[in-house]
Amino acid sequence: MKFSTLLFPLLSLAALSQAAPVDDDSGDDPIEALEARDAYPGQSTSMPTFTISDFYASGASHSSQIYIGFKVKSNPFGQTATCSFSMPLDNNHPVPTTNYYTKCKPSSFGFGFQKDATTKAYILTITQNTGKNLLTSAVSMENKIKTYVNKANPNGNYKYLDHSKKFTLYANLFLADFHEFFRHLYNNEIIDSNALTKLAAKAKTENRPIRIADLGAGTGAWALDIAQTFTSKPGNIDVELDCYDITDAKFPSEPPNNIQFKIWDVNESPTDEMKGRYDYVHMRLLVAFLPITQIPVVLKHAMSLLAPGGYLDWSDVSPGYPNVTPTNPNTQKCALTFVEHLKVTGKDPYLTDNLEDWIRGVGFQTVKSTHYSTDIIQKLPPSINMAMTICLVPATYAVLLKLISSLNPQLRSAALVRDIKEAETVIAASEEEIKNGATFTIPVSRFLARKGT
Ligand SMILES: C[S@@+](CC[C@H](N)C(=O)[O-])C[C@H]1O[C@@H](n2cnc3c(N)ncnc32)[C@H](O)[C@@H]1O
Repeated sequence: MKFSTLLFPLLSLAALSQAAPVDDDSGDDPIEALEARDAYPGQSTSMPTFTISDFYASGASHSSQIYIGFKVKSNPFGQTATCSFSMPLDNNHPVPTTNYYTKCKPSSFGFGFQKDATTKAYILTITQNTGKNLLTSAVSMENKIKTYVNKANPNGNYKYLDHSKKFTLYANLFLADFHEFFRHLYNNEIIDSNALTKLAAKAKTENRPIRIADLGAGTGAWALDIAQTFTSKPGNIDVELDCYDITDAKFPSEPPNNIQFKIWDVNESPTDEMKGRYDYVHMRLLVAFLPITQIPVVLKHAMSLLAPGGYLDWSDVSPGYPNVTPTNPNTQKCALTFVEHLKVTGKDPYLTDNLEDWIRGVGFQTVKSTHYSTDIIQKLPPSINMAMTICLVPATYAVLLKLISSLNPQLRSAALVRDIKEAETVIAASEEEIKNGATFTIPVSRFLARKGT
């Protein structure tokens, strides 16, 4: 796969992360040139989805084989594929599992169907190479195995996974994968359950929904999941979500009724209307976007959004401690370039080492920090880990290009990757390493803090 196939969705993210002047020998801005080459109409305003139909994972009457299959339609591209896999029935497998990446027809689509050793859930991962982008999505399916009973002949009985045949997944190179990754890492507790219980009781007595803000929300993957989890069933906790981002580039075109998407730069003071409005403020994956000097400013803004007793929930990564499987020098180079880029642009690759102090420093009363080492992350199901690798490396590619274009000649000569040609070579080589099993993981930390009552 050529590197441009992975690059576009992240270039726009990287472009936001700094405003250093472009210094390219050719006189052209390579970032702009690449963006122009890879852009396609509608990409920036609608969130890609995969529509799955005719999904089944089951045995079959009088058969010693078990099967999984489905049709997938990629929107807005409209391309379709048929994916299937079969294997012999055995005692360990009521339904089949197959490694990511099992090719579909056409082979521009691929999938994996694996069992999570801890939760026992099945994880379906789907990827499409559109020729311009690599779209990936993953979803957990509850391990609900049922038996089809053939009354006429017990040999005709077979087991199947009880799951809807038709469903839609958000497909996004970077964010959807990371959301599923966080879901697994946090054992499905993507919002703190103790906080939620307290807030639900308070909201009930005040006869109103719980008010939640997501800052730097991107596609709103987290908020969309919260909205689905807490309002889909009658009698469930009622939530109202506001997703803020500096750009509307990734906002979904038709969000659910209880989510509003709004433009706001977290570096700017919140309006009076926003202040004290929220019970829970969520922030995630902002390390590459917030200069060190802005961390206390942004934390103060988060604090001012919260009502007394409200919670801040910030998850971020530590790019400064990459863990790349040994003997993969190009993937290693990508990982280190990410760190180099953060430093050059005034960000803190070790932010999570210091974030608890920053949070206490602006006056939050209690702070609970949870750190997930790369050892823990590497024990996640392979498809989830793979998603992290796929996500991180393109992210690094994007910053790598931006880094090259922004360095002055002296810094450039000292940089790990010095020109676009070298970058393309490293990227292509890293792609190969990843296909051959290289992984690139970084630690994750979560901070839950509470404002005084
Ligand atoms: C890596 S994405 C994370 C998205 C989301 N939090 C998630 O975890 O799925 C970072 C997001 O922060 C947004 N962002 C960057 N700087 C920002 C700022 N100053 N104010 C608000 N949003 C910002 C970017 O536009 C991008 O959507």
